[in-house]
Amino acid sequence: MMNVLILGSGGREHALAWKIAQSPELNNLYIAPGNAGTALAGENIHLSVTDFEGIYNFIKEKVIGMLIVGPEAPLVEGITDYMKAKLDMQHLIIIGPDKNGAMIEGSKDFAKIFMEKYGIPTAIHKTFEKDQLDQAIDYLEKISPPYVLKADGLAAGKGVIICNSFDQASKELKEMLTEEKFGKASSKVLIEEFMEGIELSAFVLTDGNSYTILPSAKDYKRIGEGDTGLNTGGMGSISPVPFADEEFMRKVESRIIRPTVEGLKQENIRYKGFIFFGLIKRGNDPYVIEYNVRMGDPEAESVIPRIKSDLLEMFIAAGREQLDQYNIELDERFTAAIMLVSGGYPEKYEKGKPIGGLDAVEDGLIFYAGAQRQAGTNEIVTSGGRVLAVTSFGRDLEESLRKSYAGAAKIDFHKMYYRKDLGKDLMQYNN
Ligand code: AMP
Ligand code: GLY
Repeated sequence: MMNVLILGSGGREHALAWKIAQSPELNNLYIAPGNAGTALAGENIHLSVTDFEGIYNFIKEKVIGMLIVGPEAPLVEGITDYMKAKLDMQHLIIIGPDKNGAMIEGSKDFAKIFMEKYGIPTAIHKTFEKDQLDQAIDYLEKISPPYVLKADGLAAGKGVIICNSFDQASKELKEMLTEEKFGKASSKVLIEEFMEGIELSAFVLTDGNSYTILPSAKDYKRIGEGDTGLNTGGMGSISPVPFADEEFMRKVESRIIRPTVEGLKQENIRYKGFIFFGLIKRGNDPYVIEYNVRMGDPEAESVIPRIKSDLLEMFIAAGREQLDQYNIELDERFTAAIMLVSGGYPEKYEKGKPIGGLDAVEDGLIFYAGAQRQAGTNEIVTSGGRVLAVTSFGRDLEESLRKSYAGAAKIDFHKMYYRKDLGKDLMQYNN
């Protein structure tokens, strides 16, 4: 029996908490800072995910055996190193890599150098530093549009700019490199070849030696139907991905997953945690767009329900470096997670709106993101742009979507919005 602390406050953390709470290995579950959903699975704690000292003291006080880090920021800032440096934390299992490992998300330049060294397929690129604006513009002149510009560091998902004209690209480059458009994150900028294809996400849990492949998923990033309008944190996801058949996933494993885990080992990075591969299928071949060092959100809301195995047991196996002996059991059915968002998101939106109809959702799971219980009442109110996801199972993609949309239609809050076209792009693939 183990006490577990999860860091984070989104739909991903609710999905993790919901799953961990079902484990017979669990004693007490805490989530910092959590949301209205994690409070149903365990106890929310008022601590920021980057308050390392506060988290350390809490782990000591509550005799926590496992720390699961939901978002990337504390990993990139070194929470794993911080805990491992403490003599009284040697027993602690941490799901999340140390600072060196987190560099594959924290620095796109580092990730590219790593992929090139280990022969992992990705877009051709060149990196430019602050004082290399002229060289960067010369390089732009040599390549053809669309131009893909990327800030090297973490930029809250906003650091990638795709431009169709040379003039716009040079203006953006100048703002990023010399005017700190993304602060320190854009003191280095990558110019990348544009890859044409369809995107998907693959996930593994690794113990540093071996790995377990989790279900694949596809997320929907744009606010508008038909993938139009502004980028968001994710408007929903489906799992598995109909076009990622066995043959394709074998390529993903042999060309991307295995060389990544092996490469990390070669670099003496002892990586325990999730690796999220942002992939694109060009023709029939997978390429890496980016790595993340955590589960995806909203992918977690469709992927985690499809894991039948005890997730806490799987994390314990990772902690003990025994994943090579672990067989994951999956639910063969499809899931669709529909994200309900506040009107106006991803720009200005209002908060504190009561959410109705939650009890009317019969055939679906609700994973809360920007939703909090109103202090002193039983009412749940909106507290963010992405408010909650409704996830349902189906024998095929259509059925899972139909059920999730039926659930979403029962819920109501002021200016609620969701995309009605999830999965439509995939109906051409038989599933
Ligand atoms: P990232 O933050 O690296 O995931 O990039 C955000 C989004 O930009 C991706 O999900 C893709 O849709 C797009 N993108 C990034 N790099 C490329 C590329 N080299 N070619 C085409 N699209 C890209
Ligand atoms: N769904 C993309 C992400 O989690 O970064």
